[in-house]
Amino acid sequence: MVRETSLSPDDFICPLFVTHGRGVKKGIPSMPGCFQESLDHVGKHAKEIRSLGIPSVILFGIPEHKDETGSGAYDDQGVVQNAIRTIKDAVPDLYVITDVCMCEYTSHGHCGIIEKGDVVNDPTLELLAKEAISHAKAGADMVAPSDMMDGRVEAIRLALDEEGYAQLPIMSYAAKYASAFYGPFREAAESTPQFGDRRSYQMDPANRREALKEVALDIEEGADIVMVKPALSYLDIISDVRDSFDVPVAAYNVSGEYSLVKAAAQLGWVDEERLMIEILTSIKRAGADLILTYFAKDAAKLLS
Ligand code: PBG
Repeated sequence: MVRETSLSPDDFICPLFVTHGRGVKKGIPSMPGCFQESLDHVGKHAKEIRSLGIPSVILFGIPEHKDETGSGAYDDQGVVQNAIRTIKDAVPDLYVITDVCMCEYTSHGHCGIIEKGDVVNDPTLELLAKEAISHAKAGADMVAPSDMMDGRVEAIRLALDEEGYAQLPIMSYAAKYASAFYGPFREAAESTPQFGDRRSYQMDPANRREALKEVALDIEEGADIVMVKPALSYLDIISDVRDSFDVPVAAYNVSGEYSLVKAAAQLGWVDEERLMIEILTSIKRAGADLILTYFAKDAAKLLS
């Protein structure tokens, strides 16, 4: 009766890695329990997720071909676009969010296009807007830009409005730090930068006030939900954002946070279930309304 924070499957957004081909369900070694899966597996998986009481998924795509401009990202027959249609067919009431970024689709693995060895901000915006529209056309319920280019929320908002998707919300990865906790994800999504790193566009983990500035800008540009990422080393940021703004706050319990728990549990060093629930509860307690987490299914099973 006096517990201040309660956790429910309703809080979770479950990430999915969709890959090209057929009959593929390939385990991700650094993320036990997570898979790259082809379209023929995705519908069934989506049903399972919904049946556990989880309302939403976020899709990441692994395309067959990568190129300099990430053209797979805005291909209407691309892997994510097809996955949206498959999931909406199989489970119409599962809320489908798409990650909008270039890094899974570019041959160099950066989140934007490259000129003279550097990621260029403004030319990237046009492609991100194209990607968002392509997801909307395929039936996405919400788009989530994760690239961290400046001005992308506004560019995507304007483009969606123009194309007749004024109702489609945007969840922005607003305070996204340049973090070593993304290591396993980059294996899962095959999106490791081939040169340099992401520090020129993602935030410095040492900065706290700057997060509020990033969030304020995204809200001004039209973000409906703002995200803090990673979650666990950034609970202070989640709390600051919750206190300072009146929009829903999402937190991304990222791949490295998941892998650490799984690895220690495999060694028998920690109690996996208790640790998982404690971590998710702390993220919610800090102020997150929504939690993107690879634990979604495991936690939902325990909570129901
Ligand atoms: C794409 C993107 C990343 C994650 C989500 N979207 C990786 C990155 O920025 O390198 C990371 C998620 C995770 O680690 O679980 N830009």
